[in-house]
Amino acid sequence: MSPVHVTAEVLASKRIGAFQHVTLVAPGVGERFRPGAFVAVSVGTGGYHLARRAFWIHQVRPLGGYAATVTLVVQPRGEGTRWLAGRQRGDRVEVTGPLGGRPFALPKEPVPVLLVGEGYGAAPLFALAERLRERDCPVNLVLGAPDEAHLLSALEARRTARAVTIVTGDGSVGARGSVADVLPEALRRSGAAVVYAAGPATTLHAAALAAEEHGAWSQVALEQRTTCGTGLCLGCPVPVVGEDGVARTARACTDGPVVRGDRVRWDDLARGASA
Ligand SMILES: Cc1cc2nc3c(=O)[nH]c(=O)nc-3n(C[C@H](O)[C@H](O)[C@H](O)COP(=O)(O)OP(=O)(O)OC[C@H]3O[C@@H](n4cnc5c(N)ncnc54)[C@H](O)[C@@H]3O)c2cc1C
Ligand code: FES
Repeated sequence: MSPVHVTAEVLASKRIGAFQHVTLVAPGVGERFRPGAFVAVSVGTGGYHLARRAFWIHQVRPLGGYAATVTLVVQPRGEGTRWLAGRQRGDRVEVTGPLGGRPFALPKEPVPVLLVGEGYGAAPLFALAERLRERDCPVNLVLGAPDEAHLLSALEARRTARAVTIVTGDGSVGARGSVADVLPEALRRSGAAVVYAAGPATTLHAAALAAEEHGAWSQVALEQRTTCGTGLCLGCPVPVVGEDGVARTARACTDGPVVRGDRVRWDDLARGASA
């Protein structure tokens, strides 16, 4: 998956709940995309430039006469995300992608799978669900958020998956609680052989633990800060255990962003430790 750097054009920008869905014409990016890949966007124009910001590729679709437009889900909160969310149709944005040495690995057999996502972090799971369905894998989905506004595409989730469990912190939609609360039951009901998770590290950790207890594999999409995104700066360390049982440091951008959940040293990750 060799990335390209392009000047993309904003084709559409739509507010849905707490998120801004930004669709870009970014020639070459969508064509190379695999679920779990991300892009780096240079935020800021004119007199000021900030570090590039990473965004999951949510959807790749033919739209407006273009073969493979790329949609990002932006939760405006800091300088960079507010800048991108404020772009209008016709604006130009510098984009590098698709990035990520290891996107989600698809099972060889049509096994049942459980996809677990939280907030905007669930963005990479929707394209993954489509690919899994093409392989005849029964797709089950757990979607979580603090409240309804931060719940990503619940309607689309119901169209994509065989069974959907929704959980919100304030109980405004679905069950009240956290993703971790509903995981054991969702795993039992789905009989999943593989759990795919995307979202905050606490959710990824919970998904990896629940999968292990259930005897399933897990694949987690890490959201470590990335600076270069290409494996050069060593600025995105992930503490892991290698297949030989020896502690190592992986790079989220090129050895990930998707890694096996049972390989991550979660306590060290939470402490920001590597090595
Ligand atoms: C693989 C990946 C996928 C992501 N997908 C999404 C997504 O789909 N939607 C979404 O809303 N967010 C996503 N994020 C998170 C998003 O990139 C960061 O939260 C965002 O960079 C925050 O930017 P901000 O400017 O709004 O915040 P700010 O609060 O302005 O930035 C916080 C501070 O962190 C620094 N910083 C921010 N980003 C980086 C970086 N990439 N490298 C180094 N320093 C940085 C800034 O310089 C600033 O000092 C993703 C992150 C990663 C790593
Ligand atoms: S961000 Fe530079 S090595 Fe990963």
